[in-house]
Amino acid sequence: MITYTSELKNTEVQIRSYFANLAENISRIFEAVDVYAAIHQRRVAALARHVGTKMRLDEDKLFWLYIGGLLHDIGKISIPESILNKTGKLTEEEWLLIRSHTKQGYNILKDIGFTYPVDDIALHHHERVDGSGYPDGIGGDMLSIEVCIITVCDIVDAMGTHRPYRPARSKEEILQELKNGRGTKYNASVVDAMLEIIESGEFDFRYCSQNLSTT
Ligand SMILES: [Fe+2]
Repeated sequence: MITYTSELKNTEVQIRSYFANLAENISRIFEAVDVYAAIHQRRVAALARHVGTKMRLDEDKLFWLYIGGLLHDIGKISIPESILNKTGKLTEEEWLLIRSHTKQGYNILKDIGFTYPVDDIALHHHERVDGSGYPDGIGGDMLSIEVCIITVCDIVDAMGTHRPYRPARSKEEILQELKNGRGTKYNASVVDAMLEIIESGEFDFRYCSQNLSTT
């Protein structure tokens, strides 16, 4: 029988640290494919950990939430950069391709053997509480709290960032989106935590105007 000694605990901490480094480096390698997506993943990961802490999730969940944030858009690696950063209107086919990043991400992550459903975060972070999202149109209790947190962080970071095809949204527009979608598109408890973070000034919106190629 294995007893949970301090030595075992140290080994676990070390393995987690290696693992977080590995996930951060995968995210950095991703910059060669899509700078925005790579930086977006790191910001979503940090923001998700902040929201999770506010919601008093335990350390284990916070760790995997961070890993899930770092890898949630990894499926975009399979989509041509010319489509991801297209400035003009996307065709229906291009939209379908972009939306496929959720399943592509799931396929990349599902065989790694995570002890936590990181693959589920990649697969379902574009679902909505009312079932209006994709790829499966599931909602309510079928969405884990981790998925719901990544979803809200994804929206906040995406709206707050300047993109080639549109400027960054203002803080007021982001707050309005969250309030409008509270309990319908987005998990109400997650929105409440996020609103508290934004309205209290804990979250720094200054990066919104940064040039991503220099960050
Ligand atoms: Fe995504």
